[in-house]
Amino acid sequence: MIVLGIETSCDETAAAVVEETGDPLRPWALRANIVASQVDIHREWGGIVPELSARQHIRDICGVVEQALEEAGVRLKRGATEVRLKPDSPARAIDAVAVTQGPGLVGSLLIGVSFAKSLALYSQVPLVPVHHLAGHIESLVLENGEMLLPAIVLVVSGGHTSLYRVSTPGAYELLGRTRDDAAGEAYDKVAKLLGLGYPGGPVIDRRAGQGNDRAVPFPKTRLTHADRNAPHLPGRRDFSFSGLKTSVLRYVTLRRAALGLGEGDPLPDAEIDDVCASFQRVVVETLLDGLFDASRWYGAASVGIAGGVSANSRLRADARARGKSRELPVFIPGLALSTDNAAMIAAAGLRRYRAGELARWDGSARSNLRIDEFTN
Ligand code: KG4
Ligand code: ZN
Repeated sequence: MIVLGIETSCDETAAAVVEETGDPLRPWALRANIVASQVDIHREWGGIVPELSARQHIRDICGVVEQALEEAGVRLKRGATEVRLKPDSPARAIDAVAVTQGPGLVGSLLIGVSFAKSLALYSQVPLVPVHHLAGHIESLVLENGEMLLPAIVLVVSGGHTSLYRVSTPGAYELLGRTRDDAAGEAYDKVAKLLGLGYPGGPVIDRRAGQGNDRAVPFPKTRLTHADRNAPHLPGRRDFSFSGLKTSVLRYVTLRRAALGLGEGDPLPDAEIDDVCASFQRVVVETLLDGLFDASRWYGAASVGIAGGVSANSRLRADARARGKSRELPVFIPGLALSTDNAAMIAAAGLRRYRAGELARWDGSARSNLRIDEFTN
């Protein structure tokens, strides 16, 4: 089977083609992975503007999908008849379309969902709705092959910081999530208040490398259990990053006053490096404490990290070091599959389709979709 994936939940318009291999340990092969990033548009505003995001998806989606099909050497079926669109179009046609149903920005999600529906209808192939975070989890399998189970996976990006247990392939149990800011969001907000621009993750990561990570004793928020509906088990853990962000703001304001700087004036470079390093140490320790505590509690056979923040150099290095000392395999995808992409959506769609739980889907985009919701 060969699947076209479409992802438009946030600020990347993405399409990809993934094919089944027949190998149960490495079930999927990537044939094309196209991403049109909107980061330059949102940079001007210092963050993502939902209305601009939706409009840009409309401009980009046709070209992105066409490019993915072309690069993969596949075409759309036309109805049941399999007529080739052009005499020289490839013989191989896609067998299903997978699309991100949610969570995300609703106006942006709607573009992808409507487009995917039209393609599936035109081609008379199944349409598979996918949870965005199931996609991030399956990006680990797409890149490395099936995980050793049970696995604990941390999905950490600009929009999400969530911890999942995967006990059987395709079943994702939410163990905890952030109660306020996502970790990537904290990076972006701290970068903004330091005058470092948007997005904040890459620049703070770089500046942190030059600073002293013990220079400022920012507090670490440790929540002992997940709130609301989750039972209070020690292996469940929520995160919180807004207190840390406020501490950084307070510290920077005090230092500005002490140095006689005006509001909004940048601190000296060496101080910025120290703030970045100290902030980053706390974020990384908080995330890895949650991940590895859960892995111990649930007797995990492996752990994984996915999402844009998994690009962070310290998070990667410290996760590998902790995994090594516990003899626990740590899986982190490369950059192309860790930031938002449609390859992970196609892979998760294939997983879901093969699980056979789908009736004909006629749902819509859902900005607050839960991972355990049955979406038909
Ligand atoms: O997954 P992603 O591309 O988009 C979503 O938010 O879904 O993640 C983007 C986030 C941004 O908040 C960005 O600041 C953060 O990932 N990020 C990083 C790094 N590179 C990107 N955070 C920390 N260190 C990095 N090297
Ligand atoms: Zn994402």
